[in-house]
Amino acid sequence: MLVEDPVLLHQWHPVLMSKDLTEEPKGVEVLGEKVVVFRTSKGVHAFKDLCIHRGVPLSLGKVENDEIVCAYHGWTYNGCGACTKIPSMPKGRVIPSKAKTTTYSCAEKFGFVWICLGFPPETEPTIGTNTFDNPDYVRVVMGPYDVQAAGPRVVENFLDVSHLMYVHEGLLGDSAYSEISDYRVHEINGQLVTDEIEVYQPDPDGRGYGVHSLYKYKVHKPLTVSFTKKIVGSENFFELYLIVLPVTEASSVAFMIMERNYALDDPDEIFIAFQDVLIEQDRVIVENQKPELLPLDLQAELHLKCDRLSIAYRRMLGEIEITFGTA
Ligand code: FES
Ligand code: CO
Repeated sequence: MLVEDPVLLHQWHPVLMSKDLTEEPKGVEVLGEKVVVFRTSKGVHAFKDLCIHRGVPLSLGKVENDEIVCAYHGWTYNGCGACTKIPSMPKGRVIPSKAKTTTYSCAEKFGFVWICLGFPPETEPTIGTNTFDNPDYVRVVMGPYDVQAAGPRVVENFLDVSHLMYVHEGLLGDSAYSEISDYRVHEINGQLVTDEIEVYQPDPDGRGYGVHSLYKYKVHKPLTVSFTKKIVGSENFFELYLIVLPVTEASSVAFMIMERNYALDDPDEIFIAFQDVLIEQDRVIVENQKPELLPLDLQAELHLKCDRLSIAYRRMLGEIEITFGTA
């Protein structure tokens, strides 16, 4: 059942890593809607995952000659969703023009396949202001990470600086240095941006060095956030984007893009393996948080000054009247 969230319906959501969409069609779920994604020589396509004949998921079918063929009786749909072949129909009969499936906007960018179920505000997906084409940086695309929690819960955990010393103790933080200095949250061009927040990190990226880091968090869209991290006393700069796919109200898939200007030749696997550890630590927490949907009533929980960003995030979601994954 499609939940008509007025905000998320009209946004681009990453559904797959580009490398994971090969010749087979893949079934995905966005906002509770089952969608089939497939690749042809003309690009990527997304349809409602349901054959109009007898309701079999098209994701059980195959791609042939740039068209998708249903597994049940071979009805075939072109890249625009029009039925082009009904194998059991006698020769000479014309396929009715209303034999069409529901199509969705589909694009490939930043190493992901993206879908928009409604009317996309931009012709192609964007992530903040980053174009990911600075030659001085290397980037690593990570995911998919399944999390049985509401999208806004997953995002808020990413924005929560004071969990680093507990959930990621020994890596991103140290509970002996858990005090968070005061910081503010600014609204710049519709995005939330924090001041720099200093954190002592025993081993921040899996390479075994302790550093002091300056975090600056940004909220670009309801389910697209990032932080930049400068390592004190060096030119090292690190940026991590989190983009969360809202699968159902209480389940999500997280994707990440990391950029850095150091250790340029280190294999991606080091950074991916390290992120896998961190995500697993976070997953245990967010999958057990109550209530499952993120409460937007600011009186519902207690907050500290260091929770300013969470408060600003909840307020922003309330103002844009997001409903999916919030309460
Ligand atoms: Fe798809 Fe019959 S159900 S062809
Ligand atoms: Co975490």
